[in-house]
Amino acid sequence: MSKGMGPIPDGFDADGMLLLIGGRRADHLVAEAGDTPLFVYDACMIADRIGRFRKAFSGINLHYAIKANSYAPLLRGMSKHVDGLDVASAGEMAMAIAAGCEPSDISFAGPGKRDDELVAAIDAGVTLNVESEGEAARALAIGRARGRRPRLAVRVNPDFEIKGSGMRMGGGARPFGVDAERVPSLVRELIVADAEFRGFHIFAGSQALSADALIEAQAATIALAARLAEAAGAPPPMVNLGGGFGIPYVSGDVPLNVEQVGTALHDALAARPKILAASGFAIELGRWLVGEAGVYLTRIVDRKISFGKTFLVTDGGMHHQLAASGNFGQVVRRNFPVAIASRFGAAPEEEVSIVGCLCTPLDRLADDVMMPAASVGDLVALFLAGAYGRSASPEAFLGHPAPRELLVGNM
Ligand SMILES: Cc1ncc(COP(=O)(O)O)c(C=O)c1O
Repeated sequence: MSKGMGPIPDGFDADGMLLLIGGRRADHLVAEAGDTPLFVYDACMIADRIGRFRKAFSGINLHYAIKANSYAPLLRGMSKHVDGLDVASAGEMAMAIAAGCEPSDISFAGPGKRDDELVAAIDAGVTLNVESEGEAARALAIGRARGRRPRLAVRVNPDFEIKGSGMRMGGGARPFGVDAERVPSLVRELIVADAEFRGFHIFAGSQALSADALIEAQAATIALAARLAEAAGAPPPMVNLGGGFGIPYVSGDVPLNVEQVGTALHDALAARPKILAASGFAIELGRWLVGEAGVYLTRIVDRKISFGKTFLVTDGGMHHQLAASGNFGQVVRRNFPVAIASRFGAAPEEEVSIVGCLCTPLDRLADDVMMPAASVGDLVALFLAGAYGRSASPEAFLGHPAPRELLVGNM
């Protein structure tokens, strides 16, 4: 029996049988880029998302977590429209600066920062979200040695998680952040050592589709930030409330009602404890901003039958789009939305499995899905490829060429 797949995001039309991305035909985009496999990102869809956030969350800073997609043209557009970029390595920090982001608008989170990364961040004036007492001590020592005052926020390992989130990053033993009860004493130490205390970074999970779960987590985050600030005797200049806004990937997923989250956050902040009265607040998002705006285009290079099952073998695969293969943290592999881009809108006629070109059974892009009849040369579109595609895939595995990338439209 054929299996379902996630919903194709709104905003993708066809010209005849050809999928349009940002108003451009898929085959023309491939010709412009030179070949498949190709990631195409629609800048207008990203701009719409930013606009939707601004409307729902007025007064809240928007940060983009560049781990989701650090393609340079996309990052340049992003840095013009968001309030900050969040990076997770000195390499990402360099990309953020090259994209035109002011170092003072960059925050750097992530366990295992090396000394040379701390030096680069402190020299540039980037805010370090310190992940442990040990990392804080190294940052202070480096600041002293270089005659610079480090800008330090404390990443808190919260005592809760976002319920139902795809990736849990709080609520127990974690390599991320400092356990909440030890945060106040660390903040006092930072202040005594004359670091510039920037506030708290509290990231409790990712890929949440339930507005209620996010509302609950944000309320808990505000309460936790207030408790920590009271105990430390230090109001935080900034509270990064984390993010976690999810997008529908697989059958049965429903889009997140961000407007509901925005209204609740507005109310929660209006009633916030006094110690946070002068604090700024930020939300940091990756996939919700860019995920649905990206399409991964591959070409069918073989069509074969094995034990009665039809396989469409493409020139792409999990080395570029790991998440679609079900190997990026998923417990059960389920189909992301997929289509034959050169027969878009044609009636489904046959059940096929679409696989990549890697010599591993892990490289499945769609399992037992109904598609229009497709042949060698046809283009396959994998949707939901704007986040954690190229940036989160094992590109070097098996030595195939890197994918091409294109940003269409303007931000
Ligand atoms: C600290 C931090 N910020 C932001 C993100 C981005 O999450 P998402 O792309 O789900 O919005 C992550 C993802 O793991 C993260 O760990």
